[in-house]
Amino acid sequence: MKIAPSLLSANFAELGKEVSAVTEAGADMIHFDVMDGHFVPNITFGPMILSSIRKYTQLPFDVHLMITHPQDYWKSFSNAGADIIGFHIEVDINHQKLATEIHKTGKKVCIVVNPPTEIQKIEFMLPNVDMVLVMTVNPGFGGQKFIESNLKKISWLDKKRKEKGYNFLIEVDGGINYETATLAKKAGADILVAGSFIFESKNYKTTIQNLRCC
Ligand code: DX5
Ligand code: ZN
Repeated sequence: MKIAPSLLSANFAELGKEVSAVTEAGADMIHFDVMDGHFVPNITFGPMILSSIRKYTQLPFDVHLMITHPQDYWKSFSNAGADIIGFHIEVDINHQKLATEIHKTGKKVCIVVNPPTEIQKIEFMLPNVDMVLVMTVNPGFGGQKFIESNLKKISWLDKKRKEKGYNFLIEVDGGINYETATLAKKAGADILVAGSFIFESKNYKTTIQNLRCC
């Protein structure tokens, strides 16, 4: 199990230090939540922040674009140091075209699905993505409660990739703690995003280690 701390719950006044701290604590990648105040009712950070914290870790940056126009902004995040670009199935764009453009630059593609959206809606993308992110809270804020009905999406994805021989990883985002981490792992998840549970804990290393073993 891989662990991706979400900077959404980090101390924004010391973001560089927080990135170093979770890196030293054993994180596998850094989850960077981008919100535009339109696709979700909150605003976070942009590519300039990403490029300024990039030097604090060698780990991959997993950029989760909760924005209405990912096709207009992904390149700025890519140039700023993103390694994985995630965009939502709910945005009205040509998803295949965007995935192809991102892949051409050597970066990885992640398709993201919100709790109310049926998982079958992303089936056409599965042969062309490196990762699927299953949202287990409605995006916009950290510290929300895990919506258990999304677990069946994880099992569906796991079954589908075994059946078809697809290589995508399954990532889960929202409301992760020891209990929900166990549920997500059982359902077939490979990567857990955790924001408040890690950054509000006293010891990042212990929390990351324990989450990994759930
Ligand atoms: C929510 C974000 C998540 C968020 C998760 O919109 O996509 O990455 O940071 O926070 P927790 O782990 O606190 O639910
Ligand atoms: Zn996220």
